Formats: sequence, structure tokens, C-alpha cells
Amino acid sequence: MAAANLIDGRAIADKVHEETRRQIAVLKENGIQPGLAFVRVGEDSASKVYVGMKERACANLQIQSRTHVLPDEASEKELLQLILRLNADPGVHGILIQAPLPKQIRGSAIYAAVSPGKDVDGFHPVNMGKLLLGDTSGFVPCTPAGVQILLAHSGTLIDGANVVVLGRGNIVGKPLAALLGQKAPHANATVTLCHSGTRNLVEHCRAADILIAAIGSPHFVKRDMVKPGAVVIDVGVNRVENSTAENGSKLVGDVDFDAVQTVAGKITPNPGGVGPMTIAMLLRNTVRAAADAHGIQL
Ligand code: GUN
Repeated sequence: MAAANLIDGRAIADKVHEETRRQIAVLKENGIQPGLAFVRVGEDSASKVYVGMKERACANLQIQSRTHVLPDEASEKELLQLILRLNADPGVHGILIQAPLPKQIRGSAIYAAVSPGKDVDGFHPVNMGKLLLGDTSGFVPCTPAGVQILLAHSGTLIDGANVVVLGRGNIVGKPLAALLGQKAPHANATVTLCHSGTRNLVEHCRAADILIAAIGSPHFVKRDMVKPGAVVIDVGVNRVENSTAENGSKLVGDVDFDAVQTVAGKITPNPGGVGPMTIAMLLRNTVRAAADAHGIQL
């Protein structure tokens, strides 16, 4: 079978950035510069890389950003105090607390403390609740929103499709299942959310018109799990040992790309698929937060 078409996340993200730039210009005409605060707790190497990428994306679009770093052993109270300060700062329109957090800090308490209007990650219970209710006034988590746009821009019919989401995490799987199952444009799918308790997982996957892997397991999706012609989206970022790499490791997705691309109809490369979209959605949410804070229609 011919190789699958690639869904170019970088090109689609650039289109989103173009629109975001236009919105930033509107804000500028109104004397507003959008501001985003990053919070990183500890020295997790992946988190450092991700926050660095997001900082550079902000600089490219002239969104003001500042990164706050707390030590690994920081308490929940210290982090909450920082969040309260950022909530009260009128120059900060968006707040992103990079996950994962150290064990002594409860993510649920932290994400609930962020002002919902500044919650550009969409992790606050109010924004998660609005997503479930189909209320579009909330912020949608960045990776799920980015996956939806990737599908729409690649000409994939979501309406009525069988979508299988692998993984029920709060950052991707759960909100993505809610988003694509909504009665709305570029949604209205029949969504199956598969996880570690799913029986007959391979059969579920093989029935998918759109298979989305967000399970955090390197090369989990094999060729025999994919229906010929299906659209495959790889959200995974897994570090695995690699003796030929300079630092002894490399990043791989949740999909065995080389094997799966021989059977899929369309597939995201990884890197270069979902990752750039997550960042594009973050900047878009930040600009919207700034506009909402000042009552400006974009
Ligand atoms: N860690 C992995 N993905 C994300 C994300 O989208 N937002 C935050 N805050 N942390 C993450």
C-alpha cells in the first residue's frame, strides 16, 4: 500500500499564528500587549524544553512572557501564593503551570486556583465543565483544540466518524473525547475512550476512522491496530534509550510510525504534528484572554 499522506502540523500551526498575529495587531491598536506567565516547578528536563519552546513562540509574536521557577521542594502553599499574585496582576492575561508537578503538590488544587479567565491551559474545573457542556465561552485545553484543528485542516470528516482516543488523561484524552463528541462543527463524532482497563483494545482501534494516541507508551500503536485508510494522530512524546544518540536517548511517539504509515490514509509526523499545534493554541488562548479582559471583540 502507498504511504499515508502526512498531516503537516508546522504548516497548519503557521496558519493559526497568522490569525493570532492579526488579533495581536488589533489589541495593539487598543494599547494592549498580551502577557503570559509561565510557572515551572523543579528541574524536569522535558518541562524546561517545553517552556523554552513556548517562550520563543511568545517572543516571535510579541506576546510578553515571563517564566517563574520554583524549586523542586516548593510547597503547595508557595505555589498557590505565586498564583494569587499572578491572578491579581493586570499585565498577566494568561497563566500556564507546566505539568508534571512534584509529588507534594496536588495538581487539582493548583489548577483550580488559577483565575478561570486567565486559565489559557483550560485545566480549571470551570473551563473543563464548560467544555463538557458545550459552552464556548471557556478555554479549551491546547492539545485537544490543536488536534481538532489538525483534523479539520487536513480535510478529515469528523462528523459521524468513529473516533478512538487512546488514553484518558486530564490534559489530552478526556477533554479531547468531550470536544470531538460535541454536537458542533468539526465534531459530532462517535467517540470511544480507551484506556488501561479496555477489553479487546485492538478491535476498538481497528474500527476507528480516526485513531488518536495519547497514552504515553512508546510505539504502542502497531500496524495491525489500524484500519486501512484511517487517520492516525500521534500525541505521544516518550523518551527512550538510544545508544546511537549523543545523549543516549531519543524522543518517540505513541505510534510505530514506519509501520503504521504503510496502512493509514493520513498520519501526523512526530515531531512536527501535534506539538506545534499545542503551542499555537496556547498563544491563541492568551490573545483571547487579553481581549476578554479588556472587553475587546476580536
Ligand atoms: N504538560 C504537558 N502538556 C502540557 C500542557 O498542555 N500544559 C501544561 N501546563 N503542562 C503540560
